[in-house]
Amino acid sequence: MRDVELLKRRAAEAAVRHVEPGMVVGLGAGSTSLKALECISERLAQGTLTDILGVPCSDQVATDAQRLGIPLTTLESHPAIDLTIDGADEVDPQLRVIKGGGGALLREKIVAQASAREIIIVDDRKLSAQLGVQWALPVEVIPFGLRAHVDFVAGLGATVQARTGFDGCPFRTDSGNLILDCRFGPIDDPESIAAALERRAGIVEHGLFLDLVTDLIVASPADIEHRTR
Ligand code: A5P
Repeated sequence: MRDVELLKRRAAEAAVRHVEPGMVVGLGAGSTSLKALECISERLAQGTLTDILGVPCSDQVATDAQRLGIPLTTLESHPAIDLTIDGADEVDPQLRVIKGGGGALLREKIVAQASAREIIIVDDRKLSAQLGVQWALPVEVIPFGLRAHVDFVAGLGATVQARTGFDGCPFRTDSGNLILDCRFGPIDDPESIAAALERRAGIVEHGLFLDLVTDLIVASPADIEHRTR
């Protein structure tokens, strides 16, 4: 039987082995990244890891890290991050990923761009031959002009749905923006979709991380695979 939680934990453990004393570490959002926070916390408690500072990718991650006793800093104080450990929603063979299922894609991308290494940890359910097969692309937009943003992304070929929270109200990111979940189906040319989204006013960021991932750690029932770019 597959134990997804165990696979997430094993991917996290493999990534956290790359964290060394003195490092500034980007702390990603999501359930797999939470396992990495737990591993870091355990190593700090054991004394096998010392003197690290974490940069959280969301307010929730900051809360979790504080609860787990991980010292935090900010990008203002530490603009160069040694290594970030983060999850992903979908990964293709070129180490391109879709992120943002948890709505933290903007800060996650800012932290990734500030990182010397971006280690993505996933269980093997996240692997796809082509991005977009399994997951809608999250796109963060400002509330002003929502209808125009929706129509624009629909014009690129997606079925677009504004994300709502558990309460049925519009989901708000940590920056107060909205998320459009954009179902493209298989994305033949992620670079051109990314470029089109980046040219459009009102679109703050999108969940395509195309050239940011340096390391991918995939946990499957058979093994742990570590790929590098
Ligand atoms: C958060 O916005 C996302 O980018 C997460 O990193 C991604 O959704 C993976 O989450 P899980 O590890 O919970 O699947």
